[in-house]
Amino acid sequence: MELTPFAPEHARQVAEIHAEGQVGTFLTRLGLDFLTTLYAAMPQSPWVFGNVVMDGEIVAGVGVVALDTDQFFRDVKRHHWPHLLWCVARQVLRHPSLIGEIVQSVRYPAKLSASPGEAEVLFLGMRRAYMRQGIAPELLLHLLNEAYRRGCPSATAIIDRRNRAIRWMIATLPGIYVDREIELHGKTMLVYRASLPLGENTQMAESIQQN
Ligand SMILES: CC(C)(COP(=O)(O)OP(=O)(O)OC[C@H]1O[C@@H](n2cnc3c(N)ncnc32)[C@H](O)[C@@H]1OP(=O)(O)O)[C@@H](O)C(=O)NCCC(=O)NCCS
Repeated sequence: MELTPFAPEHARQVAEIHAEGQVGTFLTRLGLDFLTTLYAAMPQSPWVFGNVVMDGEIVAGVGVVALDTDQFFRDVKRHHWPHLLWCVARQVLRHPSLIGEIVQSVRYPAKLSASPGEAEVLFLGMRRAYMRQGIAPELLLHLLNEAYRRGCPSATAIIDRRNRAIRWMIATLPGIYVDREIELHGKTMLVYRASLPLGENTQMAESIQQN
């Protein structure tokens, strides 16, 4: 396994991991082309960084962090809007109920109210065959340490309360707590927060070789 910076060429595989792990959610319902375009936009923005765990040519896992979510969305609107809108329009024609969720998602950053300078974990996911091997918590710790190194004093993440795997995983890590609950897309979401750095005992074990 090799830890590599997340780049646009990983976007399609990352979109597949997202769709596999987040079945039926709003973003997944917007389609694989939408997800691929969105994920390709992320590493092109100076406000986002991430890592992929590579097993040869296979993206086994991914973690993506926004240093400023609002700025990232501004970059997306400025540079990627036409292609994303085209993907959305095609999906809305197939599933008109998506319109209500789109309106909610536009209000999403305001609802989350990340503090200035706060990093946001946008996505963490493993391909099914690579889950439950302890790779994901290491990847998360690595990303949080990197966010701190890049100047973020805290980090946040918004998680579906029914997502047991990520909740259990986070519960094994010290210093990450549930700040509050919000309603989004008809679901109860947990807003996790952590002050950075997390502490010496959470330095990444070097079992994933860094590139
Ligand atoms: C969340 C995720 C990254 C965790 O990855 P992971 O590799 O399984 O992480 P871990 O190895 O620490 O295992 C997580 C722990 O959660 C629990 N767990 C895992 N899958 C579970 C499931 N389906 N139901 C209940 N608990 C589960 C277990 O306690 C497990 O630890 P254990 O194997 O030692 O018992 C992975 O499940 C995933 O990619 N999910 C889909 C994408 C997603 O929902 N991401 C989070 C939102 S951004």
